[in-house]
Amino acid sequence: MLHSAVLNVMIKAAHRAGRSLKRDLGEVEQLQVSLKGPANFVTAADRRAEEIVREELAKARPDYGFLGEEGGLRAGADKTHRWIVDPLDGTTNFLHGIPHFAVSIALERDGVIVAALTFNPANDELFVAERGKGAFLNNQRIRVAARQRLGEAIVGCGLPHYGRGDLRLSRYEIAAVQEKYAGLRRYGSATLDLAWVAAGRLDAYWERDLSPWDMAAGLLLVREAGGFASDLDGRDAIFTKGQIAAGNETMHRELLRLLREAEKRANAQTEIAGH
Ligand code: IPD
Ligand code: CA
Ligand code: CA
Repeated sequence: MLHSAVLNVMIKAAHRAGRSLKRDLGEVEQLQVSLKGPANFVTAADRRAEEIVREELAKARPDYGFLGEEGGLRAGADKTHRWIVDPLDGTTNFLHGIPHFAVSIALERDGVIVAALTFNPANDELFVAERGKGAFLNNQRIRVAARQRLGEAIVGCGLPHYGRGDLRLSRYEIAAVQEKYAGLRRYGSATLDLAWVAAGRLDAYWERDLSPWDMAAGLLLVREAGGFASDLDGRDAIFTKGQIAAGNETMHRELLRLLREAEKRANAQTEIAGH
């Protein structure tokens, strides 16, 4: 498969940052047994990876803006283009030496994601997509799964946890999914979850409380793999609401319906408890 020039730039940046993260993962594994743990080291590894990505991208496209999880927004002279980067998506996995994390790079043009990359350096899986050109995993075309029956489908999700998100609502959502689907997974990297939907490994996925850099690349991967992605109301306000649901047309529609019912049930319970 022939990549465009811009995608080659993104791949080079991701490979460099990935090498750095892979080296650091070795160190993290050592640090598990120390009393202090690897937390500070991981923060430094994360920043290092973002710096590498920023530097590589800026070398090739010095005028583009840059939105990175670590460094925030840096405006560019070119107001139409912006990189959206998560240098390490799946920090908690990385911190625990779990080899499931990724470098995520998306290019936005006039508010639309036009190129996307998600790279897991631990197993060298590289997912890329360009608008209108399909999605690929290590140069092989990928497509969302065709499954239509919920009872055969596996769904990925993000879970609220201590100090983050709506734990109560999530219990209703999880129960609703458990009742209908073959399995529920929480892998811990939103960009890989979406890439896995694109590759047909997961049939559907949803998560709340995300940031644009968690979803930007995966969103295009899913759509270019023939899938559907929206916010949890079925609309396109994915970045502003910080939530996403994805899957093939049926899986996406059914998941949205189920989540809406779960939310209604959660709200009804709150009202009963309040009276
Ligand atoms: C996190 C991962 C995780 C998701 C969290 C994100 P980070 O990103 O994508 O899967 O559940 O909400 O914040 O912190 O590892 O870059
Ligand atoms: Ca992230
Ligand atoms: Ca991150």
